[in-house]
Amino acid sequence: AKGAAMVTAVAARVQAQRKLIDEVLSLFQLTPEHLVNVKNKMRAEMEYGLKKETQPLATVKMLPTYVCAMPDGTEKGNYLALDLGGTNFRVLLVKIRSGRRSVRMYNKIFAIPLEIMQGMGEELFDHIVHCIADFLDYMGIKGASRLPLGFTFSFPCKQTGLDKGTLVEWTKGFKATDCEGEDVVDMLREAIKRRNEFELDIVAVVNDTVGTMMTCGYEDPDCEIGLIAGTGSNMCYMEEMKNIELVEGNEGKMCINTEWGGFGDNGCLDEIRTQYDTEVDEGSLNPGKQRYEKMTSGMYLGEIVRQILIDLTKHGLLFRGQISERLRTRGIFETKFLSQIESDGLALLQVRRILQQLGLDSTCEDSIVVKEVCGAVSRRAAQLCGAGLAAIVEKRREDRNLEHLKITVGVDGTLYKLHPHFSRILRETVKELAPQCDVTFMLSEDGSGKGAALITAVAKRLHLKKDN
Ligand code: GLC
Repeated sequence: AKGAAMVTAVAARVQAQRKLIDEVLSLFQLTPEHLVNVKNKMRAEMEYGLKKETQPLATVKMLPTYVCAMPDGTEKGNYLALDLGGTNFRVLLVKIRSGRRSVRMYNKIFAIPLEIMQGMGEELFDHIVHCIADFLDYMGIKGASRLPLGFTFSFPCKQTGLDKGTLVEWTKGFKATDCEGEDVVDMLREAIKRRNEFELDIVAVVNDTVGTMMTCGYEDPDCEIGLIAGTGSNMCYMEEMKNIELVEGNEGKMCINTEWGGFGDNGCLDEIRTQYDTEVDEGSLNPGKQRYEKMTSGMYLGEIVRQILIDLTKHGLLFRGQISERLRTRGIFETKFLSQIESDGLALLQVRRILQQLGLDSTCEDSIVVKEVCGAVSRRAAQLCGAGLAAIVEKRREDRNLEHLKITVGVDGTLYKLHPHFSRILRETVKELAPQCDVTFMLSEDGSGKGAALITAVAKRLHLKKDN
């Protein structure tokens, strides 16, 4: 009888623990109403961003990019491209041959040490130019002709032309001094001058979303949206000029970099944000900023998971109640670990092994809970991202007065590419929230660098035409 009483006591404790865990997980479950709400609010914020009067205070900045034309296949030549702001910094040589729409690329990846990402602005640009020099040597083309360059700079920039972009503010892991409010093309030109070793013709500064859209648009003329679900989260799309109050002219279209990562910075997502989101925000380089990005992108999802695990451990529900030094360490859960932990068919033993690699000693029960936590966080991220995307495809459909819209989204980013469920849930959500739109997702390989080269090539082609 004593044994039986103990068994019931244990069962009751297990049940109580389960209840607590379920309570935490339920904070991340969004109802269909929640998602429709997010879609509608995103739509409203986008309209604010497009209007002259409301733009200065808009959280979704809707930045004009001065990219108006898509490639038509007649572009050709050799271009240099830089890709700064994603998982890696890369320098590329892109060779475009006309007619066949074929592109050859050579590239080299360089590390940007943390002390440079978060150090002095001038040193960051000197480092970039140092990497370009290294690449030109490596390709044996230093001192050759003055190559045209497209600069993929994946941060919010206020542009007044294709080759003019003032950094509004750093996002993600960057925080170099003396850059915000400055023109990044000028800073790059000055750094090239300081080095005094080679000359480059900087033609365009391009957001990674725009490069991705361009790359996919090169193959699919229906591609009018670019999406990045990676370290950061952002989207761009082609907008009618007449709707862009900040730019003169009413003819044709221009690509808008929405910078939707800032959605929610006015508190409009507070209803669905959790204490864990608040903790992640407060511990970040830019507290109070980029709240939607912090709920949807690779740089932060692992951090949300970590905050939940710490809380569950504090309540004695995980890791035998012991908060290890590792668990206290920021950034341990990278996208690749989340992706591995959530892989279908991965035995719990393997989950435990991954946790072990992260310095976390887990029991079998622990690993089940960790996997559930990861699932809840990434699912919410994909749904929120889908709700945002639904807002834009619906807007495009309504603006064009169509019953039914067929549109392609060019996509890139580690979260979209590596995570086992993110892309599927994202697509399902868009389908549910925008049933009148037929959305095709096109993966872009190396989209941002190639896209910057294509944009540069288009600019050169249009420029040549003008000169003739
Ligand atoms: C951040 C940047 C944005 C970029 C995105 C994806 O949100 O502000 O410019 O497109 O990350 O890299």
